Amino acid sequence: MREERPIIALDFPTFEEVKVFLEKFPEEEKLYVKIGMELYYACGAEIVRYVKNLGHSVFLDLKLHDIPNTVKSAMTVLAKLGVDMSNVHAAGGVEMMKAAREGFGPDGILIAVTQLTSTSEEQMQDYQNIQTSLTDSVLHYAKKTAEAGLDGVVCSAHEAAAIHEVTSQDFVCLTPGIRPAGADVGDQKRVMMPRQAREIGSNYIVVGRPITQAANPVAAYQAIKGEWNGQEELPSHH
Ligand code: C5P
Repeated sequence: MREERPIIALDFPTFEEVKVFLEKFPEEEKLYVKIGMELYYACGAEIVRYVKNLGHSVFLDLKLHDIPNTVKSAMTVLAKLGVDMSNVHAAGGVEMMKAAREGFGPDGILIAVTQLTSTSEEQMQDYQNIQTSLTDSVLHYAKKTAEAGLDGVVCSAHEAAAIHEVTSQDFVCLTPGIRPAGADVGDQKRVMMPRQAREIGSNYIVVGRPITQAANPVAAYQAIKGEWNGQEELPSHH
């Protein structure tokens, strides 16, 4: 499946900024948003309840990594908040991922982080002491994630096709690092346009600053959503 709404990364430091941002959208426009560590640690569960009450879907991006029992209990709490998607670090192991699934329940979408895209191959080999290529490590973790009964992974759109090959076509590839045509890439190094991400098999895209920092966030969101769904502007007949 492919989720038609781009997930908006709500990378704001305060509740107030989230409120101001969300109030720009028409009430009937139901969004899919990502709440990450900064916002969650600043506002706690209250921010999740607020966003859910507005009728939006929530990906809570906290990347859990601890002993299986602790992760299971934490996931039980997050599931009770009604989050639609959450994640763990695949490095925590298959037992930890299975425990996360038990805690989170069968319904929500549970995915894993393989290698962070901030990790270089050299760092991985020296620091983590993993003597393979970065791609092999990503594919290894993706397979283990599928084995553990999770739904997918966070990955670079560049890796999506290979990941689908070693897992299954319905394994979720959620890809950040998306920029609309002609946009400022910011600190992202390997970006991809929504249409390319679709063609390569991303199931979800995460977009932050191109929407949150836009002069007109609603228009930016609609344009990116259109690109992602293959509805590029048609030439006018007038
Ligand atoms: O503003 P931008 O579109 O770059 O935001 C992308 C979001 O996705 C941020 O919340 C960032 O932390 C997250 N992310 C990422 N690259 C990864 C994993 C997560 O950009 N590899």
